Parts: sequence; C-alpha cells; structure tokens
Amino acid sequence: MPDSVEVVDMVDDHLDEVFAIEEVTNPHPWSRTLFAAELRQAWSRSIAAVERRTVVGFGCLMYSGAEVHVTNLGVAPRHQRRGIGSLLLRSLADEAATFDVTAMTLEVRESNAAARALYERFGFVDAGRRPGYYASPTEDAVVMWLRDLRLAASGRGRASSAGSAPSRRGEGPTGPAL
Ligand SMILES: CC(C)(COP(=O)(O)OP(=O)(O)OC[C@H]1O[C@@H](n2cnc3c(N)ncnc32)[C@H](O)[C@@H]1OP(=O)(O)O)[C@@H](O)C(=O)NCCC(=O)NCCS
Repeated sequence: MPDSVEVVDMVDDHLDEVFAIEEVTNPHPWSRTLFAAELRQAWSRSIAAVERRTVVGFGCLMYSGAEVHVTNLGVAPRHQRRGIGSLLLRSLADEAATFDVTAMTLEVRESNAAARALYERFGFVDAGRRPGYYASPTEDAVVMWLRDLRLAASGRGRASSAGSAPSRRGEGPTGPAL
C-alpha cells in the first residue's frame, strides 16, 4: 500500500468524485443525493481514500446497536488491487472497534468474486442468501458476517499493514438500532 494514500472523513467536496467511482463500479449505483444524505446521518459513517488530492475509493457503514453494516465500498478501477479496498475496510473496522461494536455484516452480489475474496480475506464468512436482493440485474445477495471484530482489528493479510482510521466524528453512533 503506497504511503501516498490517506483515509479521511468523506465531506461534501468529495461527493462528485465518489459518485463518479460509484457510477462505474456499482451496477445499481447509489445516487449522489444518497451519499450526501449519509454524511448527515448520525448513525452512518463515510470515509474516502485520497491520493494526491484525488479520491480513489470510499467506504460507508451504518451503526446498528452492537453491529455495523458495511453499506458501500468502492475503489476506482485503475486503482484496484493496490490494497485500497483493504485499507478502507480496515479503517471502518478499526473505528467500529473503538465503540461497543462486536460484529460487522454486509451483503454482496453472489457473482462479485472480487469483493467476496476481499471480505473472506478480512475474516468475513458466508451466513446465508437474500434471494433477489439486488436489481439491475436481479441477483441474490450473499450475507456475510465478521462475528468478532477483534479478528479484523488485529489485522489479516495485507490489510494489517494498512493505515489507521481517520479521527472520529462527534460522539459516535447515536442513531436508533435499525
Ligand atoms: C471489491 C473492491 C472494493 C476491492 O478493492 P481493491 O482495492 O481492489 O482491493 P484490495 O487491493 O485491497 O484487494 C485485497 C484482496 O481482495 C482480493 N481481491 C480483490 N480484488 C480481486 C479480484 N478482482 N479478483 C480476485 N480477488 C480479488 C484479493 O485477495 C486481494 O488481495 P491480493 O491483491 O493480494 O490478491 C473493488 O474491486 C471494487 O471497487 N469493486 C467494485 C465495487 C464493489 O464490488 N464493491 C463491493 C460491494 S459489496
């Protein structure tokens, strides 16, 4: 992982670049408005990976009681396989571990071999399917869990050499359990 990549809090100024990455990496992309709304949710967290003032990736999660749900993750195509997805995931996990959070979960398209490989490497395991969860094209979701966040926080594979979480925003998750 090059030292030139930094993980920072996502802010409004990042949204154009984040949305540009989302459009080319997600077959059913979030809207720019949704990313903007996430920045204002007390129980959500969004971070950006920035290299030489350019956003090269992003990650989003939602706190839900003692669990966190990774809601989005993307790396610009020409920056993939450089460890940036691992860095982002690691940063989200590190921050969650500082709260009373014990587990992380997410959904991933069944056909998304790259993301599933990343998550498995990180310690997530398959825990079931949500039939027809995704649109455009319709596809099942694989539900994955990392039941013990300490396994991620202790570092696995290349993620262990990645940078640390950005500074925490406010007092932490205050939203309702969803
Ligand atoms: C999934 C994604 C975020 C991974 O980001 P990345 O920066 O390329 O990931 P990393 O470089 O940290 O990869 C870490 C490990 O994940 C696995 N991996 C990542 N991409 C892979 C691929 N295309 N094929 C197989 N394994 C892959 C490998 O084990 C890799 O380690 P290695 O490079 O040493 O072999 C990126 O491919 C992406 O943005 N995809 C489109 C959006 C998406 O699918 N988001 C997830 C939605 S659930």
